[in-house]
Amino acid sequence: MNKPARSLPFIPVAAPSITEREGELAREAALTAWGPGHYAFNARFESMMAQYVGVNHAASLPHATSGLHLALAAAGIGPGDEVIGPDVTWIASMAPISYVGAKPVFVDILPDTWCIDPDAVEAAITPRTKAIIGVDLYGSMCDWQRLRAIADRFKIVLIEDSAEALGSIFDGKKAGSLGDMAVFSFHGSKTITTGEGGMIVTNDDDLFARIQKLRDHGRPPGDRFFQNDEVAFKYKMSSVQAALGVAQMERIETLIAYKRQLFGWYRDRLGYVDGIQLNAEPDLVSNSYWMVTAVPESSFGHDKFSLQAALRNHGIDSRPFFSRLTNLGAFKDHPQSVRPPLCKRSSDLAPTCGINLPSGYGLDENTVDRVCVSLKKILSTPALV
Ligand SMILES: Cc1ncc(COP(=O)(O)O)c(C=O)c1O
Repeated sequence: MNKPARSLPFIPVAAPSITEREGELAREAALTAWGPGHYAFNARFESMMAQYVGVNHAASLPHATSGLHLALAAAGIGPGDEVIGPDVTWIASMAPISYVGAKPVFVDILPDTWCIDPDAVEAAITPRTKAIIGVDLYGSMCDWQRLRAIADRFKIVLIEDSAEALGSIFDGKKAGSLGDMAVFSFHGSKTITTGEGGMIVTNDDDLFARIQKLRDHGRPPGDRFFQNDEVAFKYKMSSVQAALGVAQMERIETLIAYKRQLFGWYRDRLGYVDGIQLNAEPDLVSNSYWMVTAVPESSFGHDKFSLQAALRNHGIDSRPFFSRLTNLGAFKDHPQSVRPPLCKRSSDLAPTCGINLPSGYGLDENTVDRVCVSLKKILSTPALV
């Protein structure tokens, strides 16, 4: 095994962009956001997000996972219902279906955008289907035109998991404005961060009222007397986190421009290499490239884990492409189904061979060059397996 390149600095796969401004606002929140001003930073952050995404309502949450849980609960989904979502995504996209006692129905993704296949969605609809979850994977956008048409035709709820896609655009509309409800994640690796954190957004007044009640232990609107009339959840974000979010949103255009520039540096070096697929940007889409992703053909002789190990020896961190959830043990004790049956797997390459390359803030073009030189060198030598 090669020795790690110790003389060169280690390149992390993700890193946030944190300035004095984040520190200043977090300090201000810690010192002032109490009593009547307890949620003042949350209100500012929510209004900045709603305005940026182009929706009427936004609620700040502990994480995107709670947002998906709330979306399903607000739509009244429960035992006996089915919810269709992609087989390849982070588990948080699909786990909340099990939280509400409904059945996740896993369908295939498209081989180019790595997002849910609308034909597979249509084929999976049954009288029990109550919702579709589309995931904007790594900043790519689902085919929201097709998904919207299917949801409207079958009168089912369309949920957008835009956890990874803040700043992406489909047909002039921002990620987060395409579902009936949508969620964002502000985990430390994401496009903007509050440490941990999330947001749910919607244009629907009734759904938003329901979300507000469900995330506050079932208190009726305006309740000041602790007269809860149902058992629900407590999903709120702290003011110090919200202050970080305000500081991040003040620079959102610069942050998205950086992500697109970073992808451009990778594309210049890897885009022409035969047999390596990068994130797609089809017509109608502007991709905010949360994570630069490379999928080498299997003919290179590497899978994602051997590639990661080899890159680590070059002092470069990476992440494996998400695995098929139906290949994991996680859902084995939960009701679930896969439709259509697991024969159509045109898109198996990405979950087998794909990796996310360093995509954090603060990387310069020389660093991207180092990553690409290493990757091409590794791919020119078959893995020792
Ligand atoms: C596609 C997707 N959905 C949902 C989530 C959940 O986000 P959180 O960690 O904020 O709950 C993530 C987070 O990594 C994600 O990548």
